[in-house]
Amino acid sequence: AVLTAGGCVPVNPVGGGGSLSPVESPSSFDIPLPIPPLAPSTVVDGVRVFSLEAQEGTSEIVPGVSTPTWGFNGDVLGPTLRATRGERVAVEVTNSIDEPTTVHWHGMHLPPDMDGGPHQMVEPGDTWRPTWQIDQPAATLWYHPHPHGRTEEHVYRGLAGMFLLDDDRASGLPDDYGVDDVPVIVQDKRLDDDGRLVLDSDGNEVGLLGSTIVTNGVAGAVHEVTTELVRLRLLNGSTARVYDFAFEDDRPFTHVGTDGGLLPTPYETDHVRLSPGERAEIVVSLAPGSETMLVSRAPDLGGVVAPFAVGANDEFPVLRLSAAPELAAAAPVPVAFEPLADDTVDADDAAVTRRFAIQDRSINGRTMDMDRIDETVRVGDTEIWEVTNLDLFPHNWHVHDVQFQVLDVEGDPPGPELGGRKDTVYLEPRRTYRLAMRFEDFADPDTPYMAHCHLLLHEDQGLMAQFVVTDDGRAGRVATTHHDH
Ligand code: C2O
Ligand code: CU
Repeated sequence: AVLTAGGCVPVNPVGGGGSLSPVESPSSFDIPLPIPPLAPSTVVDGVRVFSLEAQEGTSEIVPGVSTPTWGFNGDVLGPTLRATRGERVAVEVTNSIDEPTTVHWHGMHLPPDMDGGPHQMVEPGDTWRPTWQIDQPAATLWYHPHPHGRTEEHVYRGLAGMFLLDDDRASGLPDDYGVDDVPVIVQDKRLDDDGRLVLDSDGNEVGLLGSTIVTNGVAGAVHEVTTELVRLRLLNGSTARVYDFAFEDDRPFTHVGTDGGLLPTPYETDHVRLSPGERAEIVVSLAPGSETMLVSRAPDLGGVVAPFAVGANDEFPVLRLSAAPELAAAAPVPVAFEPLADDTVDADDAAVTRRFAIQDRSINGRTMDMDRIDETVRVGDTEIWEVTNLDLFPHNWHVHDVQFQVLDVEGDPPGPELGGRKDTVYLEPRRTYRLAMRFEDFADPDTPYMAHCHLLLHEDQGLMAQFVVTDDGRAGRVATTHHDH
């Protein structure tokens, strides 16, 4: 078997089952970090048009080993799409793999029928043409498939890429793509003796914890640093693993951006925890001729989590940074960014509070039903969503369409790492997160957006809810395009 599906995992909230699979680190980090190419685009009648084709290929995740993978416009991962606030974009999404898939624009504010969730299926051989206007601040977003029940496998095989948004707020941050402004997609894989991808969560409650860590599709990479400061756009593109990124020498760095944009006030730290789907933009400085290793340490997952959720390693290397003998000068990281109205959500305006209690694979006792609308929102409303992880193992929470503000965690103000725009938040066991979000536009009573756990095994097993944004609070009937169930 090329790929073993995770299947249904028995729930064992305290013991976890599953082996503690250790990460096996390459003996050297000498492969130049592949930089996903910027996707070409053409502007037709004022619309910036990109093309993405999901296809099968072969890549070298581990040097010298050929692995069948899937990619967009290539063998693995996909090009970086890039657009500016205010622009109208369109993407021609062609499916050249032999099963239905979708492409979801994770973090994007856009109409629900353009969202690329499980209701916008693209059949093999078909092309889907979503179009929308970019109406949100500069941010590091990403795209990936979202076919219901199949997302874990499609992402794991390699279908994922970044979608960078720019705006005219001068950030003063390093911005030379691939040079001092570097996308880093971090994933974990497991290869069998023939170099094929294995997707086997081994009875592990959270999903697959792969033994090979890859950055932009390869294990053992190095990025050659040529400037005094380098900005890393970190994306946790793993299906289950939670990382706590740091540098091996504990050097401080500046955390400048969260999922949905720049932090109003960057802050200095020495680690940042990212659960699947989350992003962090960080800026780190290297001395001329020096090097350091980006590592991940066993994250503090909230105190009561059995070790199965982490794996056996205390620390493992992720990406080596190696500085040239002479480095180009860089401006210091700004102490604050010019505030935008979008930076915060005014929770005093909240019209509605909804509660989402997550347990095992259910939300409020229900698992995902493609034909059921779980929540009906009124357009223009600000809402507070109270999300509780009732389990003793990790989940996280991702909401389509909006960026939210974390108001508090179990009643306490969130740490600075949660101080900016977020679309995905890690849920520590047995804690309640209060999130504020505003549903500005795009009323459509028939086409739901998703809210779900981004541990992709959980998502596939039904830890997902559907909500619609409406003019009058009345949901319609679920509309699905190219839907084959
Ligand atoms: Cu990154 Cu609903 O997904
Ligand atoms: Cu989960």
